[in-house]
Amino acid sequence: MQLSENQPAGIEISLWQYSRNERDRNRWMQSLSPDERDRAATYRFERDRASFIAGRYLLRRLLSGYVATVPSKIALSPDEYGRLRLEGHDTPQFSLANADGLVTVAVASGCDHLGIDCEPIDVEIEEAAVASYCSVGERRRLAALPARERARAAVALWTLKESHLKALGVGLREDPSNVVFSWKDGIPVIAGGSDHNRRWHHRLIESGSQHVVALAACCQSGLPGISTRLFQDDSMPSE
Ligand SMILES: CC(C)(COP(=O)(O)OP(=O)(O)OC[C@H]1O[C@@H](n2cnc3c(N)ncnc32)[C@H](O)[C@@H]1OP(=O)(O)O)[C@@H](O)C(=O)NCCC(=O)NCCS
Repeated sequence: MQLSENQPAGIEISLWQYSRNERDRNRWMQSLSPDERDRAATYRFERDRASFIAGRYLLRRLLSGYVATVPSKIALSPDEYGRLRLEGHDTPQFSLANADGLVTVAVASGCDHLGIDCEPIDVEIEEAAVASYCSVGERRRLAALPARERARAAVALWTLKESHLKALGVGLREDPSNVVFSWKDGIPVIAGGSDHNRRWHHRLIESGSQHVVALAACCQSGLPGISTRLFQDDSMPSE
């Protein structure tokens, strides 16, 4: 199949609440590489297997729109920290996250670093855990909120921090408490006024589902436009 190469317009975020249907899952598997199919087989829980398969399927479908390759032939390889690279291509940049029925992928051009994360909005985080990843200022801000809002704000803060660490490619090898946010006009801003930090942009993305989605992007020339869409799987069921 002949596909054309192009680049994303800014940062494109796709959100997919994938089906739990096994037949669909088997169809998505056909787009995965042999390594990915082997990895899928190692998951102990069906839920985790489904989430992994859906994530890689969505990622391959999206990337195939930017590199002239069908989804199953896209060469992805993890670096030593688990971050995926698109073999033979510097662009587009991309990041993948999945949580509890939602897969989200960000694809961009013109960013030095890009990270996305999602978490269920109602996930319960114990006070001690919140304290372990928050700075004093972040804790003070959370403490000033009403209880229900505080719980959600704590999830949002975690998601922002994880998106930043994924953008850096280190993940949770780095202590999330070292990534500190303040809020300016309702927008999260990474603390520290260095030129480098000013190139970072963080956003909470409306997911249309019971999930918090956070984006982190470090770009030389300002934040590109962000577009969000709900992915619809239009592939045909296999017979
Ligand atoms: C990155 C990390 C925070 C993801 O956590 P998670 O909540 O389990 O998963 P998410 O849904 O948020 O993201 C999963 C995706 O993140 C990406 N990812 C994995 N490691 C990454 C890293 N170091 N940096 C950026 N992205 C990474 C992968 O695309 C992964 O998708 P996959 O499961 O299909 O491979 C976690 O895996 C981590 O901290 N990894 C680094 C620590 C490490 O070295 N682990 C050993 C793996 S080699």
